Amino acid sequence: MLKLDKHYVEPRLVDLYDIENPRGADTDFYVQLAAELDARHILDLGCGTGLFTRELAINGRQVVGIDPASAMLAVARRQPGAERVQWIEGDSKALGTPGADLLIMTSHVAQVFLDDAAWDATLRDIYNALCPGGRLAFESRNPDYQGWKQWTREDSFVRYPSPHGIMETWVEVVSEDDGRIRFEGHNVFTATGEKMIVNSELRFRSQTEITDSLHNAGFAIEQLYGDWNRAPFLSTSPEMIFIAQRD
Ligand SMILES: C[S@@+](CC[C@H](N)C(=O)[O-])C[C@H]1O[C@@H](n2cnc3c(N)ncnc32)[C@H](O)[C@@H]1O
Repeated sequence: MLKLDKHYVEPRLVDLYDIENPRGADTDFYVQLAAELDARHILDLGCGTGLFTRELAINGRQVVGIDPASAMLAVARRQPGAERVQWIEGDSKALGTPGADLLIMTSHVAQVFLDDAAWDATLRDIYNALCPGGRLAFESRNPDYQGWKQWTREDSFVRYPSPHGIMETWVEVVSEDDGRIRFEGHNVFTATGEKMIVNSELRFRSQTEITDSLHNAGFAIEQLYGDWNRAPFLSTSPEMIFIAQRD
């Protein structure tokens, strides 16, 4: 059975997601990409609370948001514009073969697939869900950039108002092991003093690992950007933003 990170399951933590992850340059990037490609049928895999999904659901496009976390989808479904999207609870197996022209995975969804078998199976399902020539767009953090070195209490501490009172949150890396980063998310509900610690793990695949997996799944890489301004990818880039096309 799929094991989900508690940040996507525990309702009080889910309520914090949109506050901690507001609209940004990545949203603009995907909105512009969909317009440039003139995408009419878009799938958002791992859509979460649906910030990107709802923005893409304009101009009569057919947009589907898929996520295995029912608590994240519950938030998505009650936002303005949610009625323009079809929401599906599930993982890539629920995609089927709709012949979409664009599939996106935003906010580092690609890094939740820890095992190569799960990642490869997801890419196969995505391939089958796209029409010939359809695009897959997603990002993964560049492991050479080592962004997790800033995942310390000192560098990540934030204090903010929330529906559950003033929150204090931060992250701390627990271990670095061959592309797998384990870390703790600390969440303090200051009104009561309750502290919730969440154990998380993300996979940092290399450019070569992702490129090979895409080729094996039947995709050609059209673009690889290193940031949201579309700078070409370099070993020093924070992100690897892939635009791939299925055959
Ligand atoms: C960091 S959130 C990103 C949410 C959304 N894409 C965004 O941009 O805000 C990661 C999402 O991936 C989802 N997820 C976890 N495992 C998944 C899987 N096997 N297949 C698809 N989505 C998954 C989680 O439930 C969560 O909503």
